[in-house]
Amino acid sequence: MSAKVLLHPKVTDFLQEPKKLFINGQWQESADGRTFETTNPATGEVLATIFEAGPKDVDLAVEAASKAFEEGSWTEMSASERSRIMHKLADLMERDFEVLAQLDTLDNGKPISEMRSADLPNAIEQLRYFAGWTTKMTGQTVPISPNSFNYTVHEPVGVVGQIIPWNFPIMMALWKIAPALATGCTIILKPAEQTPLSAVYLAKLVEEAGFPKGVVNIINGFGKVAGDALVKHPKVNKIAFTGSTPVGQSIMKEAANTMKRVTLELGGKSPNIILPDADLDKAIPGVFNGIMANQGEVCCAGSRVFVHESMYEMVVDRLVEFANNVKLGDGLDEETKMGPLVSERQQTIVTSYVKKGVEEGANLLCGGKELDKGYYVTPAVFVDVEDDMTIAKEEIFGPVVVVMPYKTIDEVVERANNSQFGLGAGIWTENLKDAHTVSRKLKAGSVWVNTYNVTDPAVPFGGYKQSGFGREMGSYALENYTEVKNIWINLE
Ligand code: NAI
Ligand code: MG
Repeated sequence: MSAKVLLHPKVTDFLQEPKKLFINGQWQESADGRTFETTNPATGEVLATIFEAGPKDVDLAVEAASKAFEEGSWTEMSASERSRIMHKLADLMERDFEVLAQLDTLDNGKPISEMRSADLPNAIEQLRYFAGWTTKMTGQTVPISPNSFNYTVHEPVGVVGQIIPWNFPIMMALWKIAPALATGCTIILKPAEQTPLSAVYLAKLVEEAGFPKGVVNIINGFGKVAGDALVKHPKVNKIAFTGSTPVGQSIMKEAANTMKRVTLELGGKSPNIILPDADLDKAIPGVFNGIMANQGEVCCAGSRVFVHESMYEMVVDRLVEFANNVKLGDGLDEETKMGPLVSERQQTIVTSYVKKGVEEGANLLCGGKELDKGYYVTPAVFVDVEDDMTIAKEEIFGPVVVVMPYKTIDEVVERANNSQFGLGAGIWTENLKDAHTVSRKLKAGSVWVNTYNVTDPAVPFGGYKQSGFGREMGSYALENYTEVKNIWINLE
């Protein structure tokens, strides 16, 4: 019996409406009238047509954000009023919770249960958390001499361009806009072309919440066109990007021309390590979900699992059993635990890696298969994997795990760190000393002990090495969106 959710009437209405660009508080068609389609990856069917921003539209959006910033309609609003409007947006997202949950499930494919329990509560909490910061961002007074009064103020960096991926559409949008709003910046958000819908709906809520015009501009479009124009625009002071490492590298190079501030949250190949004394009833499902959650389309997915040799075979057997029992299906089905990948392209990328793994001599114990309909890939477990095989080194961004044995803690730390990436890492142990010492030795922005893939608006998140730089969330995120000004008053 199918437990497929009925579409909310607001969702069916919204799918019919034109999906325009939200620029300067107004809904606009793209200057050249161009549109693109977004599909439902569970069926391959077209969901809606979206107006596609080109360079002219980017220009309009940047001008609007720049004008709003210069006029101070947001920046010079009292901090408590800014906070109130941010809470208002959070209230509206709560009111339309099910609508937003269904839109991301339709557009991305992910299970509705995950939208309701993880993505959306997290997105809303970003606004509440950063709304609290508006009144608490203080500078320093610097006691250099009795003859001067010296202090710092933290000023918003200005107009920010935010480019986000498709794996957590609404959550990534709020990770980006919440800290920027708190610091008084004005924003142009460019969602991913695979998942444009929830951002358009968010723009409707931004309008209803009463933000001054031009403070939040939301424009859908393609990376190479709209994204690129945003990165090149001289009036954009900062780019915040989440996505692939190659695009991050090109953004960083391009940003040098205008000396934009840049923060990058990029790929990963994160190790998840089961130490000999781990509580296996927790560790095995923990490492399984660490890679398979969100179909493996997670930047910090624990895609390299290291298991102590003493328990290796048993753990592998249990992982395969989990993989064979995952309920794959349409994300709108309440029972679904794993949805399709976001696009046919992503499906091809992932199955090509599976093929490559087999070609290079790894042993595929299960999964890696497509289904007849939709962009599914069944969860795959590889063994007999060498550290230098492609599937052990490159980000796959799908439900594919490599499971490797190790002998000693020193050895596993070295192998875990032997990666161009450094986003997340996991350790499963009941030993307090190992938990702390191994955590310190791992080169990653987040180390999770006896849990994995958990985030909170109060907790910083970001990468070492080629996983990028800058930290999202927590007080650290505020630094990405502020300049420090020093004011020195001579009292002589
Ligand atoms: P991507 O990096 O091309 O896209 C991410 C965002 O960047 C989208 O909004 C896209 O429109 C934009 N973009 C693309 N090219 C751009 C450019 N030249 N200038 C400015 N913006 C640009 O990632 P894609 O193609 O969707 O996925 C490919 C691979 O990237 C995945 O298989 C995965 O390995 C990785 N990826 C990593 C993510 C993460 O969270 N770290 C998220 C999405 C993808
Ligand atoms: Mg889509």
